[in-house]
Amino acid sequence: MAHNLLQGKKGIIFGALDENSIAWKTAVRCVEEGAQIVLTNAPIALRMGEINKLAETCKAPVIPADATSMDDLSNLFTKSMEHFGGKIDFVLHSIGMSVNVRKGKPYTDLDYDFFHKGLDISAMSLHRVLQTAYKLDALNEWGSVVALTYIAAQRVFPDYSDMADAKSMLESISRSFGYHYGVKKKVRINTISQSPTRTTAGSGVKGFGDFISYAEKMSPLGNASADQCADYTVTLFSDYTRMVTMQNLFHDGGFSFTGVSQSVIESMGE
Ligand code: NAI
Repeated sequence: MAHNLLQGKKGIIFGALDENSIAWKTAVRCVEEGAQIVLTNAPIALRMGEINKLAETCKAPVIPADATSMDDLSNLFTKSMEHFGGKIDFVLHSIGMSVNVRKGKPYTDLDYDFFHKGLDISAMSLHRVLQTAYKLDALNEWGSVVALTYIAAQRVFPDYSDMADAKSMLESISRSFGYHYGVKKKVRINTISQSPTRTTAGSGVKGFGDFISYAEKMSPLGNASADQCADYTVTLFSDYTRMVTMQNLFHDGGFSFTGVSQSVIESMGE
């Protein structure tokens, strides 16, 4: 059910890989709510071709950008402003990748080249995106930027490995840049800490299936779905959350503040 919450707004959506992607669902919801969008992803991800379906549904151009390349990002923001005929109101950063996790390297035996790459793609890319927008003055006043994160930034989930460190850095960048962009342009920057969700990135984590069931049992409301994450993100792009910035917002059915649930206790047996 749409409410025109984003009527007249213009945004860039990073990270729609396939229809399970949180960014895919968010792109669709933003357009349903009246926004115009530009879709972007790394050139290698675009070659898979799936995004063209989404582009058709959303009537959106696709502009390739590797989020670790300043030239690509500068081109993306410049072309997007040309396309919209003006500045941008919202940006979704929905990007994550750890080569160590993908290759099953345990946290005590990390490869540092992989670690470096993972930090650049999953965390520093947010700084790169924000700095590009800041220097080009590409965002309108009261613009909104959301990045997706996971609770492993605060608490240990052993198989999340170096992605946990990347997420801590991502959340920190959102706070730090949130200060500077808030002062300069009243732009707000927040992270949404989402429940485990079945997507390409999520499924790369060892034991993900069992882990989703555990989180489901631990959360009073159950796990939040990708569609629900898209709904929440729309509210953060809307004018109803103008004074929310520099926050890490848990969207996890109550998981983050539950010590233990009856359902988990019962599953332990005696
Ligand atoms: P996904 O695999 O659909 O999306 C990850 C995206 O990152 C892909 O579109 C991929 O092409 C893009 N990407 C990778 N390297 C890139 C680069 N160099 N430049 C530009 N884009 C690049 O998976 P999902 O789950 O939708 O991930 C979106 C975000 O949500 C990630 O930040 C992830 O860590 C976060 N998240 C996911 C959870 C889950 O359980 N799936 C839980 C909490 C947060």
